[in-house]
Amino acid sequence: MGYSIAIDGPAGAGKSTIAKMVAKRKGFIYIDTGAMYRAMALYLLRRGIGEGEQEKISEKCKEADITIRHENGEQVILLNGENVSPLIRTEEVGNMASASSVNKDVREKLVELQRRLADSADVVMDGRDIGTIVLPGADVKVYLTADSSVRAKRRFDELTAKGEHCDLAKIERDIVERDKRDMSREISPLRQAEDAVLVDSSSMTTEEVAKAILELCEPFSLHG
Ligand code: DC
Repeated sequence: MGYSIAIDGPAGAGKSTIAKMVAKRKGFIYIDTGAMYRAMALYLLRRGIGEGEQEKISEKCKEADITIRHENGEQVILLNGENVSPLIRTEEVGNMASASSVNKDVREKLVELQRRLADSADVVMDGRDIGTIVLPGADVKVYLTADSSVRAKRRFDELTAKGEHCDLAKIERDIVERDKRDMSREISPLRQAEDAVLVDSSSMTTEEVAKAILELCEPFSLHG
């Protein structure tokens, strides 16, 4: 088991930006678990499976081989050998990822992959259930959140910068709906682990958030 930093929180809280910064400073590997659920969602969407079709999701998820690779410090996600990293950042895939991540078979498969990765390296892993389920023994646990309006605006800016046309009010509605589903699902709901530190980034810069997390790692700095 390597050294591990777990960052959980709702959609659009800035987890991946922060996790990447922290990983870079520490020389750790960054693992974006949301990307794994998104790759799985893309696979299911391509098979024409709808959000509510749990039996089909359970059956088809077995055919999706999801792995990650790192290139120049960036995580590349492979779905049955195909690099799908550029295809998984749409709202459609995000919503299907949230819907299909309630499925027990999907979760078992991806949690196993995540634990295997954390076994073999020092990692910063972000997601919804990292501190509670995937790595309950993580060295540092952070629950990163922000107001839903702030998160919607960040997502809007991100998508607009990529040239996607989007509607701010709809993004906020989707975010609120996704939070509700992620927090109320039966298996591994999104919640703050008892020993996680709450960081509300609503009025913090990414630099301030990264610094706060790096400070939490200080007592353990023997590891790096
Ligand atoms: O962080 P994200 O928006 O890329 O995640 C997409 C969806 O995947 C999210 O709505 C819920 C699911 N997810 C999960 O259930 N558990 C994780 N550890 C990470 C993501």
